Amino acid sequence: LDKKWVNTFRKGYVSVKGVTLPLRYKDLAEDIENLEVYDDDVWVCSFPKTGTTWTQEIVWLLCNNLDYEGAKENIGSRFPFLDFSFLFDYRDNMIKNSEFQPLDFQIDSLKYVAELKRPRLIKTHLPYFLLPRQIREGIKKPKIIYVFRNPKDTCNSYYHHSLLLEGFTGSLEEFCKLFLEGKVPFGPYWTNVISFWENRNKSNILILRFEDLKRDLRKVVETVCTFLKKSIPNEEQMKKFLEHLSFEKMKTNTSLNYEDVVAFNKKFDLIQFEGSFMRGGKVGGYKEALSQEFLNKLDSLIKKATEGTAISFD
Ligand code: A3P
Repeated sequence: LDKKWVNTFRKGYVSVKGVTLPLRYKDLAEDIENLEVYDDDVWVCSFPKTGTTWTQEIVWLLCNNLDYEGAKENIGSRFPFLDFSFLFDYRDNMIKNSEFQPLDFQIDSLKYVAELKRPRLIKTHLPYFLLPRQIREGIKKPKIIYVFRNPKDTCNSYYHHSLLLEGFTGSLEEFCKLFLEGKVPFGPYWTNVISFWENRNKSNILILRFEDLKRDLRKVVETVCTFLKKSIPNEEQMKKFLEHLSFEKMKTNTSLNYEDVVAFNKKFDLIQFEGSFMRGGKVGGYKEALSQEFLNKLDSLIKKATEGTAISFD
């Protein structure tokens, strides 16, 4: 890579309470800890690749009177990713040296979130125990929707995502090893899931599963409506909503499919991979990709990590 791009993705990693995070997290940890939270915020939390974007689009439309015109704006601007600034450090290079015109949230996602017009919608991949203090201590009770997906499809999806969007150049086997060791950004996977699962009985927390969205999207939408106290006025609108949220529609929706970022990465030779963010959206796709040896190791790790939690990924 050209030297000027070397730092585009990440400068290194740090372990915070057992969670692997980009080094720059340390600079922003205090600001995240002290972020002003509002009761009328809605937070979508998840481990990467578990259906975050899908859930965000459901929530955004329900909270914005099904405004499909407004939903043409980039999801990152209307539903910002709190972690962006520590995940991708765009300050040093892209802004000064490139044709890339970063969106406001890409320059300083924390400031962007802090200044967002209320009611705010916020995405984060942080585990529950690294959320702002006001949430953890129950001082503020924003609605929190946590979505998770079975770890095998998550790992497979994360590998492709890392090639496409994070400059990872290793093999699937190497990625799987990092996943098992919890050495992928926001890893270990199970720590993230369990941190929210343990808080599932709080009235401001709703837990969703990717597999349920796949199986019966309408039912999940109804659950989210009840949780957010929103509604879809009639059957015609419901059909339109479900159609908008279908994999086929989302795959080609440029406000959701990160096509611009992928194009940028390709243009500047930051990645050596052909693919798209909306890859297949399947349940069980991992079976064609992951080795039995890895799956066995993962099964035993998950079994150990989830002992006594009553959580099930099947
Ligand atoms: P795959 O890589 O398995 O295709 P996230 O938004 O958390 O990064 O998750 C991305 C994953 O959700 C991708 O999985 C993507 O295809 C899938 N996804 C997004 N929208 C979807 C939809 N409408 N239907 C099915 N899968 C969807």
